[in-house]
Amino acid sequence: MYDHQLYQFINRLLKSETDIAGVDNSFYIRFLANASNIGSLYHELYSGHPKGKEVFGQLIQTIIRGYKDRPAVLKERDDEKSAEEHWFLSNHLAGMSLYVDRFCGNISNLASRLDYFEKLGVNFLHLMPLFASPENESDGGYAVSNFRKIDERFGSLEDLRLVQDIMRKKGMYLMLDIVLNHTSRQHEWAEKARAGDVHYQDYFYFFEDRRLPDEYDLTMPEIFPESAPGNFTYVEACGKWVMTVFHSYQWDLNYTNPNVFVDMLDNIFFYANLGVDLLRIDAPAFIWKQLGTTCQNLPQAHTLLRLIKQCVQVATPGMALLGEVIVAPKEIMKYFGTGHYTAQECDFAYNATQMALQWDALATGDVRVMMAAQHEMLKKPVGTSWITYTRSHDDIGLGYEDYMIEQAYWNAYEHRSFLKNYFSGNYPGSPAKGALFSFNPKTGDARISGTLASLCGLEKALDTGDAGATVLAIRKILMMQAHSFFIGGMPMLFYGDEMGYTNDYSYLEDPGKSYDNRWMHRPVIQWEKLKRLDIKGSPEEQIFSGTRRLLQIRNQMPLLADLGNLTWLTPHNIHVASFIRFNRDKKLYGLFNFSDQKAFVTWYIFKERGFPPRRLFDHWQEQYHEVGEDHEYFILEPYSFFLMEGVDR
Ligand code: GLC
Repeated sequence: MYDHQLYQFINRLLKSETDIAGVDNSFYIRFLANASNIGSLYHELYSGHPKGKEVFGQLIQTIIRGYKDRPAVLKERDDEKSAEEHWFLSNHLAGMSLYVDRFCGNISNLASRLDYFEKLGVNFLHLMPLFASPENESDGGYAVSNFRKIDERFGSLEDLRLVQDIMRKKGMYLMLDIVLNHTSRQHEWAEKARAGDVHYQDYFYFFEDRRLPDEYDLTMPEIFPESAPGNFTYVEACGKWVMTVFHSYQWDLNYTNPNVFVDMLDNIFFYANLGVDLLRIDAPAFIWKQLGTTCQNLPQAHTLLRLIKQCVQVATPGMALLGEVIVAPKEIMKYFGTGHYTAQECDFAYNATQMALQWDALATGDVRVMMAAQHEMLKKPVGTSWITYTRSHDDIGLGYEDYMIEQAYWNAYEHRSFLKNYFSGNYPGSPAKGALFSFNPKTGDARISGTLASLCGLEKALDTGDAGATVLAIRKILMMQAHSFFIGGMPMLFYGDEMGYTNDYSYLEDPGKSYDNRWMHRPVIQWEKLKRLDIKGSPEEQIFSGTRRLLQIRNQMPLLADLGNLTWLTPHNIHVASFIRFNRDKKLYGLFNFSDQKAFVTWYIFKERGFPPRRLFDHWQEQYHEVGEDHEYFILEPYSFFLMEGVDR
């Protein structure tokens, strides 16, 4: 809708700036196209704020500056990406998350490791938080004390620019985090607030006494009940309470203050202009707080994200957004945008539900709970995508809904208890070796830590020298990876998993980490171990070469781009998850046996969607299969999977 006042205002600002875009009119086009959305989203949040009007001017100036500061090479890349339309849905993208220090020492060394990713087939790197963060209260870099300075332990901005430049020339992509919800208590804003500066106290949620904090606590869950119970921390220096939803050293930013929004948007553009292709917005479900609620997933959090998206589209359009929202399936879906903003909020979200459900299926050998969730997961709008993964630097939460468990006729509470016991190694006969994270004695809730390999049984199998168990563990690892690579979305491996790293217990000796067992699955890479990749048949070699082959298969098949072309097949067997992906005349069937038993499905599974192929080529085993009669069975070995392409009719 044409808003005269708004456009007059923008016109005045543009006039006072000399020639923002030179001959490039695309900036003006994008600006005009999004201005009225930017205006209305902003006013939805801040029209009642005394500084709302004044800060709106700063917002527009921040957008203009974001564009002006964008290096020419990145503007060219923006054009290339926009010519591709939805560049990020491509089957050619495959990512890995890693800590530079634990992976290769520092940012500079990464340049010499890029061939490792090329060999594996990874072209998208998520570098875990790199910005300044106090060493002993860092939460793995998620407590940022300076959003513009790289932590000295990792290198400098210049090092990052150099690596990004090399990566870009090689056609690789970069993902970094913006920690939007909070700062470290050692951030300049927090220091000033602590010293009594009211302007900066308003950047956080400060309270004179416990009255309001107590009221908030009634409805706010605890995120780290063991290491950081409660949601508020007393600040001795100013005699006030401050909101700290995560750790006591992570102070929640107050987004009801428009200055906070604009300053953080400026940081977002700073990251965009470093060459970030995908910005991981940390914990956006928490960014708006309201008394009497859980302070998660509030409508205003969505408005803020939409506003960010609109601004990014104008100034730095080649940067896509990933919302790190690890919430129940129906809540997650809203982060892709709804109504007028469908596919206009986050471009990506983590498919955390599917990730956890894979583990559920692996523990039970039964895919019914996973299948019960799919009607929700398939609602994702076209033009958006999932990050698919088997695990990340965080714990595995069992946050899917109870009714999904009940559809398998299990009691939800007991089922979750079983899963926790199974993966923490407390269930008799369980091959897994993980640990419970953030156990909450009040609710009995807990999440799970452990590497992919240890949770799949490799650690125990190697410790006991059990060759049979080793074979099964490797099969499970590859099946879990295959499942996450082929269900639609961009695979994001977690470093170390590609060569079967088991839990690393060295964190227990570090007082800055020992209170947080997520460090057990964040290994320090021993590059000598890489020699094991050359020993044919070693677990490392089997896992690495299997993972590489899976990525190659994915890379060759355009139908694996995330075009919303997946249909789950009717369950023929509770142990087997099966889907079809299609694209015009091509079809790929994925079949995964999650159990430790042979599983049988009738050949009808390949016919139920019509136009059955006569032959199938399994890309994984590189074997042809003739499709049999309906009453005959196709047999899947324990933890085996098939990636079958219909080759003719
Ligand atoms: C996100 C991060 C997690 C961190 C938390 C607080 O969930 O992934 O590692 O602890 O945010 O910043």
